[in-house]
Amino acid sequence: MTKQQQYDSLFQTLDSLCEGETDQLALMATIACELYHTFEQFIWVGFYRNVGGQVLKIGPYQGTHGCLTIPFSKGVCGKCASERAVQNVPDVSKVPYHLACSATTKSEVVVPMLASDGGLVAVLDIDSDTAAMFDEIDEVNLQRLNKYFQGRSS
Ligand code: SME
Repeated sequence: MTKQQQYDSLFQTLDSLCEGETDQLALMATIACELYHTFEQFIWVGFYRNVGGQVLKIGPYQGTHGCLTIPFSKGVCGKCASERAVQNVPDVSKVPYHLACSATTKSEVVVPMLASDGGLVAVLDIDSDTAAMFDEIDEVNLQRLNKYFQGRSS
């Protein structure tokens, strides 16, 4: 199966599991679980929630423990939250502001999740132990996940 086919199949599963669901934590838990179990190269998949005051707090995730709190001014996640733009880091050792939660992480992608009013709900963070794991196919498909959070305002 190609990566795109894996994503298409993942979206079919998520559409069915998440139909009618507007609870953000329920959605995050389900998405993190399905992503983690679809792609074996993803060693950490989780959400950092926007709790106000320019601060992210850990949300549902799969993998070993992550940092509990990340200010918008820190880390790849904070950069994603403050810029509301996808951060694709092929080699985390080359990014001085990267916050290392797992010693085996080589590459990382972080994607903003927005509500229907454009407010930042959370960022989705995915780590891989393979360098340069994430490409445009991942970026495009991970941004498609936004649709699940647009059923209500932030
Ligand atoms: N690497 C992230 C921190 C979160 S962990 O990877 C789970 C960052 O630099 O923001």
